[in-house]
Amino acid sequence: MIRIGIIGCGSTIGIARSHIRAYACCKDAVITAVYDLLEGRAEGYIRDMRLSDAKACASLEELFSLCDAVSICTPNCTHVDLTVAALKAGKHVLCEKPFAPTPAECDQAIRYAKLCGKVAMIGLCYRDIPGLVYMKQLIDEGKMGRIFFARQEQGGDRIASPQVKLEWRMQKDLSGPGALADFGSHMMDICDYLLRDSCGPIEEITCMQTTCIEEREIIGKPGKTGPVTNDDVACWICRTESGTLYNFTASRIGASFVLEIVGEGGKMIFHGDKPFELTLQCKEKNGGYAQQPQAVPVPESCYGADPNAPRTPFEINFYYEIRQFLDAIQCGRDTQLTLERGRYIQALIQTAQDAADCGETVPVDAEG
Ligand SMILES: NC(=O)c1ccc[n+]([C@@H]2O[C@H](COP(=O)([O-])OP(=O)(O)OC[C@H]3O[C@@H](n4cnc5c(N)ncnc54)[C@H](O)[C@@H]3O)[C@@H](O)[C@H]2O)c1
Repeated sequence: MIRIGIIGCGSTIGIARSHIRAYACCKDAVITAVYDLLEGRAEGYIRDMRLSDAKACASLEELFSLCDAVSICTPNCTHVDLTVAALKAGKHVLCEKPFAPTPAECDQAIRYAKLCGKVAMIGLCYRDIPGLVYMKQLIDEGKMGRIFFARQEQGGDRIASPQVKLEWRMQKDLSGPGALADFGSHMMDICDYLLRDSCGPIEEITCMQTTCIEEREIIGKPGKTGPVTNDDVACWICRTESGTLYNFTASRIGASFVLEIVGEGGKMIFHGDKPFELTLQCKEKNGGYAQQPQAVPVPESCYGADPNAPRTPFEINFYYEIRQFLDAIQCGRDTQLTLERGRYIQALIQTAQDAADCGETVPVDAEG
């Protein structure tokens, strides 16, 4: 049984809840320790989520003394320090994305991870969604032929109301970029993972951003507002080594989750609210579109018949992520979601941010 410590018991999204629900689906893990910087939050989580084996810890040191592995579910600016502290304490680490506000900050944690030999994983948790696994299979089998372009939109609408207060994620020094990093880290990871073998790495990026709600009320200071210092919406285009274009829109004030990939073999479309389905419209490589688009169920071979896996959007992402983390710990199996991968994705995000700042197309200066 792997003993898990949860760091960060949030109340904005509170992503720790998704981690906890995913661990609850795994018979080989138990949550034994919970910690948050703010008093009372750990106790609240234990009560609300019925964590009968967990202790609300008064310090990180106490949490480390009660667990083998941690999920880090805190704001972006804390990820590196907490990862280093957990690795130093001999714990396996699953750290939420984005890894850090800037790529350079990630290096310290990567150095410790190499030294300590523990599993150190970054929470880019979308790749194993069955529909995306099926997309990869079709691409790798050559069904799409040469890829012409990809288009992806992702985001959320929780903070669409100007009444939502000024959270850490709206402040550049605590978060890094806004929607660009928050959703863009998943988006870049998905597209690069699916298409790298066909299209090569991303070589240059152009980007524009906008902040639609520029002032919000400061938490704990009724009537007093402060500026939002990063993007609500980001649109960026990447060109890969083969010349393929990826077109991305990330928005935290309303967006759908759609990924469309178009190539010689036709179109495939994934909708985030249908994780077990793709819309396919096939065509002859040297011909046009003779068929209508068809909704196709993902074959079971793409996700296995795991009876514990939830079937609901979002929850399913976290289940496969946590399963991968636990398997890596137990079998000594490597995970693809290394801290180096987290850093590479941050380097792509930083390139997009630089492009937005200077208003030019910027070459990617990172390998991964
Ligand atoms: N994988 C995904 O799809 C996904 C979705 C949402 C959020 N996230 C990521 O999860 C992380 C947390 O986001 P959230 O929305 O849950 O935040 P949140 O604001 O809801 O919760 C963060 C919690 O961390 C606590 N905290 C801050 N600093 C701490 C520290 N040093 N030690 C212990 N606790 C500390 C805060 O008190 C707060 O309770 C972010 O990095 C975010 O990008 C990932």
